[in-house]
Amino acid sequence: MSATALFLASLLSLAAAGPAFQNFVVQESLSGAPQGFAKVGPAADSTPINLRIALASSNFAGLEKALYDVSTPSSANYGNHLSKDEVNAFLAPSDDAVAAVQAWLASHDLVATKSNGAGDWLSVTVPVSKANEMLSAKYETFEHVASGKTYARTLSYALPVEVADHVAAIHPASTFNNPESLRPVLSAPKPASGISIDATPSSCATTITPACLQSLYGIPTTKATESSNTIAVSGFIEQYANKADLTSFLKKFRTDISSSTTFTLQTLDGGSDPQTASKAGVEANLDIQYTVGVATGVPVFFVSVGENFQDGDLEGFLDIVNFLSDEDDVPQVMTTSYGENETDMSKALAFKLCEAYAAFGARGTSVLFASGDGGVEGGQAQSCTKYQAAFPAGCPFLTAVGSVHGISPETASTFSSGGFSNYWGVADYQSSAVSAFLTAQGTTNKGLFNASGRGYPDVSAQGENVQIVSGGSTGGVDGTSCSSPIFASVIGLINDKLIAAGNSPLGFLNPWLYANPSMLNDVTTGSNPGCGAKGFTARAGWDPVTGLGTPNYAKMLAAAGL
Ligand SMILES: *[C@@H]1O[C@H](CO)[C@@H](O)[C@H](O)[C@H]1NC(C)=O
Ligand SMILES: *[C@@H]1O[C@H](CO)[C@@H](O)[C@H](O)[C@H]1NC(C)=O
Repeated sequence: MSATALFLASLLSLAAAGPAFQNFVVQESLSGAPQGFAKVGPAADSTPINLRIALASSNFAGLEKALYDVSTPSSANYGNHLSKDEVNAFLAPSDDAVAAVQAWLASHDLVATKSNGAGDWLSVTVPVSKANEMLSAKYETFEHVASGKTYARTLSYALPVEVADHVAAIHPASTFNNPESLRPVLSAPKPASGISIDATPSSCATTITPACLQSLYGIPTTKATESSNTIAVSGFIEQYANKADLTSFLKKFRTDISSSTTFTLQTLDGGSDPQTASKAGVEANLDIQYTVGVATGVPVFFVSVGENFQDGDLEGFLDIVNFLSDEDDVPQVMTTSYGENETDMSKALAFKLCEAYAAFGARGTSVLFASGDGGVEGGQAQSCTKYQAAFPAGCPFLTAVGSVHGISPETASTFSSGGFSNYWGVADYQSSAVSAFLTAQGTTNKGLFNASGRGYPDVSAQGENVQIVSGGSTGGVDGTSCSSPIFASVIGLINDKLIAAGNSPLGFLNPWLYANPSMLNDVTTGSNPGCGAKGFTARAGWDPVTGLGTPNYAKMLAAAGL
């Protein structure tokens, strides 16, 4: 009797719950196509979509705690960076998550493959009709008007209740990545003519060369010694680093070192680095010349991401992190001079990418990004009525680098993107620095920015009329694109000394930077106007234009305990 009753009761509750995977919870929903995109019609049912499924990590909170534990100078575990397996154990989805998602996919006769070692990213290719069914979505064709490129996207998507808590994000779905936006964060090169190259301090007021940086920041010219200490330079959108240009650059600007000093190529997604002069990229050449040419003797890798994206129009941004994270030995520094607007990326996707940078930091990599070139307008200049944040500069687990110009004093560059994220709250390591700025600022800019957001940039470096050789000619370039590799080179040189002394590299920099603000040259003049307003003003202490300031090599070395 009682057995029968139980049986009946469970049958009833099953019936009440309804068939599996039929009750959907909306994950993202947009009222219309974002600015710059237009709907052109339905997406053909048979169009294949390579869906990336980001699973919730089993213990990101644990990873974040471990990251701060190994990155905060006052912690007993400072410098005890995690191994790949240790990091992956935090990032990996729970068994329950894997089982639920597998069951859901199996109900659609699908099997997904892991796209990274940690297994928190899966990939499965499905036709539009299947994606619509699985995600209770309506994929349509949208055109990015300026470029004419078309994309299958859906204004909303949902997940069955059984998997909703286990999935962090689906892509491509409702993120309308702006195909123009992952452009180098770099202004147009200035004409090369009439610039006389001369390393005397006065010329550095208007023209930046490696010698200027060495003199301004006290960067040593002596060769680093540690071959295990590397800097990875990210390359996207068919930007190629040219070896002949590097040789010419070294012959002109580093006559004290061998002009055959070069870099190593790593490729993914079908990337390459053709050496034809006409293919030389200003951004790639800048990034390579100001790492190889400034971090003297530090091995530099150019990581060229091709266009066979596995990450569904994230333009390789996710692919490069997964690629480098799956190496047993991560580079000690990664510098990236590409970015976009925070609003171009859904919050869920942005969070998941930001978690990957945290994982990198826990391994001992200093992750540096150009903050962006739109001042308070974000990644690049745009029309706006409120200040815009840049991505990934707003992610708290990386170091965002803004720009300055001039030498007495160094002054904020007007294009230096800085402000406050709308996605991430203020980070603990910066909370007193940010609140001091907000108090000092008073009611200026009130209502134009999110005062509870993570403030960026963290630091800055020279970024105007920085001399490079590209396609055989010499000229100056502007942008936070210049500043990130310059700051990265300083970190690479400090890491060399640390490793030579038997210590750990610096890893995730921000807790160390904010704990030692006086090791940076505070920049207190200039501002980043935009959106029809005055922008933020550089002032004593941290500010959202120049961060904590520019490098002082000797003081940074001392703060690193050397
Ligand atoms: C930011 O968004 C604006 C407006 O959609 C766009 O014109 C601009 O290219 C974007 N910039 C970046 C760097 O993402
Ligand atoms: C402001 O920033 C906070 C913290 O990141 C965020 O939760 C909130 O949604 C943001 N507000 C707006 C209007 O975007």
